Amino acid sequence: MRKHIVAGNWKMNNDLPQTEALITELKAQQLTSDAKVMIAPTFTNLWPAFEALRQTNIEVIAQNMHFADHGAYTGEVSARMLKSIGISTVILGHSERRAYFNESDDLLAKKVDAALENKMDVIFCFGEELEDRKSGNHEHIVENQIKNALFHLEASQFKNIVLAYEPVWAIGTGETASPEQAQEMHAFIRQTLFDAYGEDVANATSILYGGSVKPNNAKEIFSKPDVDGGLIGGAALNAEDFFAIINAF
Ligand code: PGA
Repeated sequence: MRKHIVAGNWKMNNDLPQTEALITELKAQQLTSDAKVMIAPTFTNLWPAFEALRQTNIEVIAQNMHFADHGAYTGEVSARMLKSIGISTVILGHSERRAYFNESDDLLAKKVDAALENKMDVIFCFGEELEDRKSGNHEHIVENQIKNALFHLEASQFKNIVLAYEPVWAIGTGETASPEQAQEMHAFIRQTLFDAYGEDVANATSILYGGSVKPNNAKEIFSKPDVDGGLIGGAALNAEDFFAIINAF
């Protein structure tokens, strides 16, 4: 059985007091689904969040990391640093990193390798832009994003990889992919995994959907057979909404 996962990507939101307040609210929520719950606060709030959620079933994860172990990379944070404070999962390849920080497939391949070498799990994000979808090029784009950054890996390394399909046109726009569009793409991604690595990897890899998932559309999206969870932005900043989404499983 593939793991169900719902991860909240807080992006550059919430200072320390806001982080503490939201965590208090999250701890008061009732988890009624089998989904694994994760939150990704900013770097400065990872340690306090980790401490506050130590005895709970909410995992604290990072939004990004550098590929190097240490060195002259002003402003960057390494896998080793994350591991040293107890963080063992990282989001890589988010479309905002690709768009605003020029993260390429090649760079992301290096980051994936660094994360795996440091025994971290990766939530690897990818997705097409609106023009790609309009021109019918979306599957091709997604296939290349996955291949370029991940297909140098061994099959056994996929146990530490979670995929997150996030159509760029649906992120923060209030416009979601329809459950059918999500299912169609997730099935395509699973087939791509099958073609490259075979049935075991294809069946065992969780594929999350991200892009304007809200309490009112989560159930329908999560009901699709190839959708194994969600990466949630805006709605993860509200504890009740976030848990309504998680409990939609
Ligand atoms: P959104 O963000 O839920 O606000 O659309 C999703 C994401 O960027 O992961």
